[in-house]
Amino acid sequence: MRIPGFYKLPLGARQDELQTRHDLTEADAHTLNAGGLSTHDADRLVENAVGIYNLPLGVGLNFLINGREFAVPMAVEEPSVIAAASNAARMVREGGGFTAEADESIMTAQVELLSVPDLALARARIEAERNAILIAADEIVPRLKARGGGMRDLEVRIPPGGNGKSADRRLIVHLYIDCRDAMGANLVNAVAEGIAAQLASIAGGRPGLRILSNLTDRRCVRVRARIPAHALGAEDIDGVEAAREIASASRFAEDDPYRAATHNKGIMNGVDAVVLATGNDWRGVEAGAHAFAARKGIYRPLCTWKFVENDGAWLEGFLEMPMAVGIVGGTLSHHSGARLSLKLIGARSAGELGMVVGATGMASNLAALRVLATEGIQRGHMRCHRRATGIPPAPEKAPG
Ligand code: MEV
Repeated sequence: MRIPGFYKLPLGARQDELQTRHDLTEADAHTLNAGGLSTHDADRLVENAVGIYNLPLGVGLNFLINGREFAVPMAVEEPSVIAAASNAARMVREGGGFTAEADESIMTAQVELLSVPDLALARARIEAERNAILIAADEIVPRLKARGGGMRDLEVRIPPGGNGKSADRRLIVHLYIDCRDAMGANLVNAVAEGIAAQLASIAGGRPGLRILSNLTDRRCVRVRARIPAHALGAEDIDGVEAAREIASASRFAEDDPYRAATHNKGIMNGVDAVVLATGNDWRGVEAGAHAFAARKGIYRPLCTWKFVENDGAWLEGFLEMPMAVGIVGGTLSHHSGARLSLKLIGARSAGELGMVVGATGMASNLAALRVLATEGIQRGHMRCHRRATGIPPAPEKAPG
């Protein structure tokens, strides 16, 4: 969503602006000021609660994703993250905005079976009983099935080292579950626990761990952007030069895991801020992101950029990462701040929320690479922050 000059308004006027554009109620306005979580609800969410811990909530602007305008709530303490992502989203807009797609909301339940006497035979037996197992697993979460979700498939895996002696002879059964608009951790864990005895009796072993996998590689988002190089320029920055340097910075991350870690941290600046604002499990998204980044045995960047000369000069970006986020259930029943963030985004499905999160990660990455490849992080982020707020960041708080 474009709101020119938003950053120049005082905080109260920004709230008014959102109130008119998003039909916010008095209660929503109160939520913005109070932080969205009462001590009463905090006490119901966690153990030994003694209070509430606040973070700033800002709005990322200029996001055009699949032709739709989005205001992106971001909860983050680091100066310049929101301004930088908004600035990058404005550049992406000049090429027509982000194009994004999301997989179905497929989560993986892992059931470990231990002391399996004959792994190959157990695998064959489980595969032969596939349909009966999926039907039994669906019965554990009948409301999910009624919402159009449920079991989609199963897979039997013998992990490396799983063919050892006696107790360590390990078979892993994956159940692939479509969790629709929920993140789905509770559903998946209920299935893993509920089906384990039946699997163990088929396999002839005993149940071991029964839990979801955070490597949700069947629930990825993919985001693309094609930016005309001139849009990356500024008074003292040549756009084509900036595009070439950003592509070179991307190759650095592709070649060097030490750089890839920092490159991905820049992506997670945007990703985590939206995941946190919408009440989702940011540790799960983090775990999935980094496991996915390392899935080929070497740690790789989640977003890459190429300089392309074809009917003009362009910078083309591609991001792919797991995205286990939901728009129902979980923290949402207790956290009015998370509900308000979802209202601001207006995502119609978990997949659409995932696309917004992915686009925000890509924007954060583009902003970081552009500033690193041109004026440098200290000067660039300071300037970005000062321009957006009129206030220099606290001196001890360097980005990182
Ligand atoms: C700082 O929070 C994030 C960056 O280090 C990311 C990067 O280096 O790409 C600027």
